[in-house]
Amino acid sequence: MASNVSLSKQDVFEKVVSLCKRRGFVFQNSEIYGGMSAIYDYGPLGAELRKNIYDLWWRRMITEREDVVGIDGRIIMHPKVWEASGHVTGFAEALVEDKVTHKRYSGNKLAEDQLGLTIKDTDIESIDNLVREGKLRSPDGNPLTTAKKFNLLMPVGIGTVEGEKSTAYLKGESCQNIYLNFKPILESMHKSIPFGIAQIGRAFRNEITLGQFLFRQREFDQMDVQYFCHPKDSSKYYEEWKAIRWNWYIKDLGILEKNLKWKRHSDQERAFYAKDAWDITYNFSGMGWKEIEGLHDRGDYDLSQHQKFSGTDLTYFDQETKERYLPYIVESSAGLDRNFLALLFEAYFEDGERVVLKLKPNLAPYKIAVFPLVRNKEEITKKAREVFDGLRLKFHAAWDDRGNIGKRYYSQDEIGTPYCATIDYQTLEDGTVTIRDRDTALQERVKISEIEDFLKSKIQ
Ligand code: GAP
Repeated sequence: MASNVSLSKQDVFEKVVSLCKRRGFVFQNSEIYGGMSAIYDYGPLGAELRKNIYDLWWRRMITEREDVVGIDGRIIMHPKVWEASGHVTGFAEALVEDKVTHKRYSGNKLAEDQLGLTIKDTDIESIDNLVREGKLRSPDGNPLTTAKKFNLLMPVGIGTVEGEKSTAYLKGESCQNIYLNFKPILESMHKSIPFGIAQIGRAFRNEITLGQFLFRQREFDQMDVQYFCHPKDSSKYYEEWKAIRWNWYIKDLGILEKNLKWKRHSDQERAFYAKDAWDITYNFSGMGWKEIEGLHDRGDYDLSQHQKFSGTDLTYFDQETKERYLPYIVESSAGLDRNFLALLFEAYFEDGERVVLKLKPNLAPYKIAVFPLVRNKEEITKKAREVFDGLRLKFHAAWDDRGNIGKRYYSQDEIGTPYCATIDYQTLEDGTVTIRDRDTALQERVKISEIEDFLKSKIQ
């Protein structure tokens, strides 16, 4: 099997984007109306793959852990949440405009790309100085306008009377309802510190920098664990969660360690809520090392801000030590869409004409495809339908009777189906089928009655 090594970096990016559309993984949102930029819909196979990542994350982070509970919070919260969280004032970038083309850019991203400078998102003055000194220009080489502070939160009008609507915000980071639900969870679930609250939820950002496919969207999902602990233990749990999350990429998603790297945020880069911040970055062909998850030591920033703005006591009372304190929070925030994208980059292989998505079988959209060897033999088609109907009640299975067998194999390889079962003349005689393995292309005969156990042994 040839690997991606023979492909140029840009190739992989373009090929993954094209495969996503061609094979029903990802579509441009509202495409028939010209599309909404930086918003994408997941097609049938993308939705399946995404759900498999979602379910596995939920199982690993919540179901298998006694110390973490899951929630499903809404997208809209009280507008004061975003004042308390600091997003209304601090969640901004320096917006600059090309004086000739009128295209808009994030001055911070331009400074990073053109000058290798990391400038704090809210430091509009430094961007302005670079523009004035002519050190920063648009990617087309044109001069830029002065920088304006641009808030990334998306406002939404709530209410039925025009002119009297109150302004709320779509979630700028998904985790905020975890902090708001800390107290009711303590009371209803009788949890004691340390424990975590986890959630997979939508986030919305009015991103300025566009054109990076799923990597930077205006609507996306975050898979968050917020771990509440005693302040003296936060460094210990921060390290523990860094290890847990690193393992997720290697063991659960099957990403090679050489394609992952830690990146610590400098003082300039660190978000306003974080005392310490490390990113897990993935080496995306064509885009380079990019963040797929952020791990933050948030200290007591969130609970103390919400306590101050709401006037509600959010302290924790330790029954054993009789100590009352505001817990510290260790955060793991992974982009579901960026996990999805990294997985596709990692799984994409070419072998001559053949494109293979080498996804782990438990993550693949279909677990098995069932083929009748030929279309015009009624007994074979009938038997194949019987096998398919039995399997699809237990595994997500695909049916294909188009073209020749070789083409069907190629078609399933391209969407990552790990096994293909062919019903042929021999099946009618001895009740066995040919099962072909996606990665090795090797075939073996398996009894129809044993296919289920065969698949279970391969898909964990
Ligand atoms: N609560 C912490 C937080 O929101 P973040 O580093 O801004 O931290 C966490 O975001 C993760 O969310 C990122 O590592 C990334 O995977 C994902 N993410 C952030 N912005 C995104 C965007 N515009 N499109 C897709 N995913 C995004």
